Amino acid sequence: MEILNKIFLENKAWAADKVHRDKEYFHKLAFIQEPDFLWIGCSDSRVPANEITNTEPGEMFVHRNIANVVDINDINIMSVIQYAVEYLKVKHIIVCGHYGCGGIKAAMTQESFGNMDVWLKKIKNIYSKNAAIIDALATEEDKHKKMVELNVLEGANKIKEIDFVKNNSDVKVHGWVYDLRDGILQPVTD
Ligand code: CO
Repeated sequence: MEILNKIFLENKAWAADKVHRDKEYFHKLAFIQEPDFLWIGCSDSRVPANEITNTEPGEMFVHRNIANVVDINDINIMSVIQYAVEYLKVKHIIVCGHYGCGGIKAAMTQESFGNMDVWLKKIKNIYSKNAAIIDALATEEDKHKKMVELNVLEGANKIKEIDFVKNNSDVKVHGWVYDLRDGILQPVTD
């Protein structure tokens, strides 16, 4: 339990530091949530949304799943998007993939991963649709990167087609990719 005790201790130190810098810090946060951004990213522990963007609690509404898949039949992500747009009134929805994504790699193999195959199938479908483009690339690395980018574009495009997003001119949808090797975010373009 040593490792869990460390988490509670670190949490206390973090909270104390916030209060030290601003006495009203938690008081303010407890009453208002007005994030400008909805972040849809991968669950990967190396891509923590707030940390890599230097944002504070309250600034970013976050949804993460394996390989940042956007599926309009997934009630979880759809509820997050609807809440973010209609109630929190976010201005920007960011779908962020990352190079070196294990979910994308797994989906590009023929291996079975048990129950996770249902999830990975959503990514395999993106590969199937774009097989000609991906197979034409020379290296496994290039293929992987292209799949990461296509998955982001597909996700962003699906969100743009949702009625309550399409009909709301205050909301912009973005597709980004994060590179684990240098910590840099870049926009993905068609
Ligand atoms: Co990932």
